[in-house]
Amino acid sequence: MVRFDPTALPADFYADPYPTYTALREQSPVHRCPDGTWFLTRHADLERIYRDRSNYSSDKRVAFAPKYGPGSLLYAHHTTSLVFNDAPYHTRVRRQIVAALTPQTLKALEPTVVALVDRLLDAIEARGEADLVTDFAAAIPVEVIGNLLGVPHDERGPLREWSLAILGALEPVLTREQQEFGERSVREFLAYLATLVAERRRHPGGDHDLLTRLIRDETGGQPLSEHELLHNCVFLLNAGHETTTNLIANGLELLMRHRPELDRLRAQPELIQTCVEECLRYESPNQLGNRLVVAAVDAGGVRLEPGAYLTLCIGAANRDPGAFPDAHRFDIARAPNAHLAFAAGAHACAGMSVARLEARIALLRAVHRFPRMQVSGTPVRAKRARFRGWQTLPVRVK
Ligand code: HEM
Repeated sequence: MVRFDPTALPADFYADPYPTYTALREQSPVHRCPDGTWFLTRHADLERIYRDRSNYSSDKRVAFAPKYGPGSLLYAHHTTSLVFNDAPYHTRVRRQIVAALTPQTLKALEPTVVALVDRLLDAIEARGEADLVTDFAAAIPVEVIGNLLGVPHDERGPLREWSLAILGALEPVLTREQQEFGERSVREFLAYLATLVAERRRHPGGDHDLLTRLIRDETGGQPLSEHELLHNCVFLLNAGHETTTNLIANGLELLMRHRPELDRLRAQPELIQTCVEECLRYESPNQLGNRLVVAAVDAGGVRLEPGAYLTLCIGAANRDPGAFPDAHRFDIARAPNAHLAFAAGAHACAGMSVARLEARIALLRAVHRFPRMQVSGTPVRAKRARFRGWQTLPVRVK
C-alpha cells in the first residue's frame, strides 16, 4: 500500500509530484493520511465533490482555528474570504465580484495587457536573457489586478510579497517565520487597502473600476461591510497574483521543454486557447483544494463521516487517464479538456477569464518574439505543494 503524508513531503517531491500522484490514484485514490485527513486523486471524485454543496463545505473555521489561532489576522482574513465560506455569505460576495467583472471590463483590459507584455518583452530582448518569473510572468498579474482595482502604479511594490506571504500560509506545514510573515502581511495589506477604499469613496472611479463597483454594490443585496470588503479585496489581489504568475511561467517552461509544441503554436497561433487549457491541466498552478464533509457520504467507495477533512488533488486529477487519453502527454491542441485547474461548481474560479486573457497574450507574444528561447542555468522550483510554479526560470532568448 502506498505511503503518503502531505505534511512530510520528501525534498524531491516538488520536482515531479506526478509519480506519487499516479501511485495514489491507482492504489489508494481516497487515501487516509497519518493525521486523519483524506487525500483524493481521481478526476471523477473531485468533480463530483466540487459540484456538491450539500455534503461538502468550504467553511474553514474549524480547520484554521488551530492552524493560525482564532484571534489572528490570518484567521480573520482566510475565514472572511468568499472562497473559504458557504452560502449565503459566499453567494452574496461572489455575486458582487461576478457583477463587477463584466465582459466590457475584460475587453477594456486587453490592450493594456498587450502593451505591458510587449514592454516586458522589449526589455528582455535588449538584455538577451532574463529570469522569466521576475522579469515577465510575475510582472503581468500584479499590473492587471492592480489596474482592475485601481491601485496607483507607485503603490504596487509590496503587493506581490504580501500576496506570497498570505497564500503561502495556506501550505500544509508552516514555520513560525512563515506564520509571522503572513500575519504581518495581512496587517499591512489591510491598512493599505483601508486608505485606498476611503480615497475611492471620496473619488469614485469609472465603469471599469472593480473597487468602485464593489463599494457601490450593484447587486441590490446586502452590501459588504467594511471588514468584508477589505478582506475580499485582499483575497482578490492575492488570488489573481501567484496563480497567474505560475500559469505563465509554467506554460513557457512547458513549451520550451516540448519544442515541437512550441513550433506548432508559432505555426498555428489559433491553438493558443487550447494551449492555455493544456498548460492549466498539465502543470496546474493551484494543485490542492480542500473541503469538509458535512453529511455522511460515500466518496470513491470509502465511507466518510461528517467532520472528515479532504484535500482534493487537482494536480493528480488533471493527469487521470480515466478523464484524459494519454494523460501524461502535453498536447496543445487537446480537446475536449475538462481539467479542474479552476475547480468546478459554485466556487469555480471567479477570475478565470482574467487569467486566461493574460496567459493567452503572454504565451503567444513571447513565443513569437523569441522562437529560440531556451532555459539557461538551473531553474528552481518553488517548494510548495499547493501552488505549483517556478521560483526562478533563467532563459536566453537569442
Ligand atoms: C491561473 C490562474 C488561476 C487559477 C489556477 C485559479 C484557481 C482557482 C481555484 C482552483 C479556485 C477554487 C478554490 C476552491 O473553491 O477550493 C479559485 C477561486 C477563486 N479565484 Fe481563481 N485562479 C486563478 C486566477 C484568478 C484570478 C486572476 C482571479 C481574479 C481576478 C481569481 C479570483 C478567484 C476568486 C474570487 C475565487 C473564489 C471563487 C468562489 O469561492 O466562489 N482567480 N481560483
